[in-house]
Amino acid sequence: MSFDRSIKIAPSILSADFANFGAEIRAIEDQGCDWVHVDVMDGHFVPNLTFGPPAVKAFRPHVKTVMDVHLMIAPVDPYIDAYAEAGADILTAHVEAGPHIHRTLQAIRGAGMKAGVALNPGTPAESVAHVLDLTDLICVMTVNPGFGGQKFIDMTGKVSQLRQMVGDRPIHIEIDGGVTTQTAPLVAAAGADVLVAGSAVFKGGSVSAPEVYGSNIAAIRNAARASATAA
Ligand code: DX5
Ligand code: ZN
Repeated sequence: MSFDRSIKIAPSILSADFANFGAEIRAIEDQGCDWVHVDVMDGHFVPNLTFGPPAVKAFRPHVKTVMDVHLMIAPVDPYIDAYAEAGADILTAHVEAGPHIHRTLQAIRGAGMKAGVALNPGTPAESVAHVLDLTDLICVMTVNPGFGGQKFIDMTGKVSQLRQMVGDRPIHIEIDGGVTTQTAPLVAAAGADVLVAGSAVFKGGSVSAPEVYGSNIAAIRNAARASATAA
């Protein structure tokens, strides 16, 4: 995975047809997505339950781009090797998931993956100030995690702060939750480069009408690009 700050669209398969993940993943990739966002929820850290390492392993052969695995679980450390074995390219842990984010990020990189750290809406940017050199991606939650289709919570101030803190480091700033053609320009202007979108990509489409996915992805990308700040 080479690093650049161009706008990237990462559809969240939480909004896909759960009975047809392989075809859904191939459809969004054929329709131009950049990454595939996989939401892992444990029914403990967040009030919802999705899938674990066996399912992620089953998704892997269908992902030709980048498998971006977002862990909404606590604890994280006991599962890091299982997600490496499942084929995650990026593994993101929440800073709120436990007291040892420094150790967790080291372990994720040690297992051969890119390391991401996620911040809930209530968590300040400063919480990652001392782990930037262990981080390849910062995920700014713009919803309280656990469900797709929620209303966007404006975190553009935090995004700008993080963009300053990151400086020239090769760290992606990812936005997750409520991304649409309306909200994408706001976060892109603040310095984000990876936009996760679930309901806004999958709405109105299906594996038999994938071109709808394509026009949704293109619309979000074009809206973001129009206001993206130069790196
Ligand atoms: C929420 C997840 C998000 C969610 C985004 O906890 O982390 O990735 O699927 O879905 P939308 O884009 O519909 O808000
Ligand atoms: Zn997510």
